[in-house]
Amino acid sequence: MPYAAITGWGTALPHRILTNQDLEQMVETSDEWIVSRTGIRERHIVSGGESSTSLGAGAARAALAKAGLDAGELDLIVVATATPDDFLVSQACLIQAELGASGGAFDVGAACAGFVTALSVASQFVTGGTYKRVLVVGVDTLTRYIDYQDRGTCILFGDGAGAVVLEATEESRGLLSTVLGADGNGHKHLYVPGRTKYVANSARLVPESAAIFAEESPYMKMNGREVFKFAVQAMGDSAVEAVAKVGLSFDDIDMLIPHQANLRIIDAAARRLDLPREKVWVNIDRFGNTSAASVPIALAEAANAGALKEGANVVLVAFGAGLAWAAGVVRWGVAGVERHAAQASEPVAASATPV
Ligand code: UT7
Repeated sequence: MPYAAITGWGTALPHRILTNQDLEQMVETSDEWIVSRTGIRERHIVSGGESSTSLGAGAARAALAKAGLDAGELDLIVVATATPDDFLVSQACLIQAELGASGGAFDVGAACAGFVTALSVASQFVTGGTYKRVLVVGVDTLTRYIDYQDRGTCILFGDGAGAVVLEATEESRGLLSTVLGADGNGHKHLYVPGRTKYVANSARLVPESAAIFAEESPYMKMNGREVFKFAVQAMGDSAVEAVAKVGLSFDDIDMLIPHQANLRIIDAAARRLDLPREKVWVNIDRFGNTSAASVPIALAEAANAGALKEGANVVLVAFGAGLAWAAGVVRWGVAGVERHAAQASEPVAASATPV
């Protein structure tokens, strides 16, 4: 049975940067509070013509270039997003059109846990032998649903996209274990009501529903403390389970790539895995929480910095709205993928210190 090696990776970020100092002018908050409670200093937010489509396609192009593939060589595109540009057409179809690709295209919805979930779905098409080359994109533009008068949420989120290319190999590379979980009863702790505009027409037919929807805000609502408690538990438990599933111990883990939601949550997960800080990739200071884009952006950064050597064991773990969580162990590298034979035997770079 083939494995699904990650042969390309890339990111795309909006041009506009919103700093903590900018937020100080908008709501009652301070750089000191935000940094000490979350670790975030700035985040990128969409403006102008930027969208989930433009960012997703940008990350995809970078990943394809790294893999040395043309978009036309892809068999399938799987996109993780909670913020598609269209609610009928999948985000994957919009990105496929931008890329000029063909083949299958569909979305996976698991909010911030979306990329790891999509990676597990996409990998199975490769390991099952159905497809050879699959693109996985994690993209979100959640700032479109943020109330910039709500200091409990507006300080946390940024926009962005990350993508990886999966290719078949006979060597044990790519996603080796998956842990998915959800507690649907927790949906009320993090959600975007925002149904108002979509029921406008049906409300004409069913007038009694109009009043209910009219009261709903279009902005994200979050019970930060509840999500925080859940996150610490879910990240730790699922990461431990993902490592155990492949018969490894924590000593065998070379890098933890956690969802970048809050530095305190990341630190708690690292403690559960008994990992020193240099084995935990952290970039939340520059990007905030980019939802489904968070893990692939961090993964691409770590790879570009030479921190992931051929054969390295990398733990991915994420949690978010649903409430849902996902974890997995990835064995890094391109061994066995013929087109990448030279790359696989390149000398290994020393571990970089995460930012
Ligand atoms: O992908 C999943 C997305 N969501 C998350 O990961 C969220 C997880 N939760 C968190 O990260 C944290 O709960 C927050 C960062 C949202 C909040 O941090 P906290 O340490 O849990 O603060 P808190 O909600 O317990 O609030 C403590 C105090 C409150 O004041 P009082 O009641 O003690 O007087 C808040 O009103 O901090 C106040 N506060 C703020 N102060 C300055 C809340 N937000 C802010 C702010 N600036 N932005």
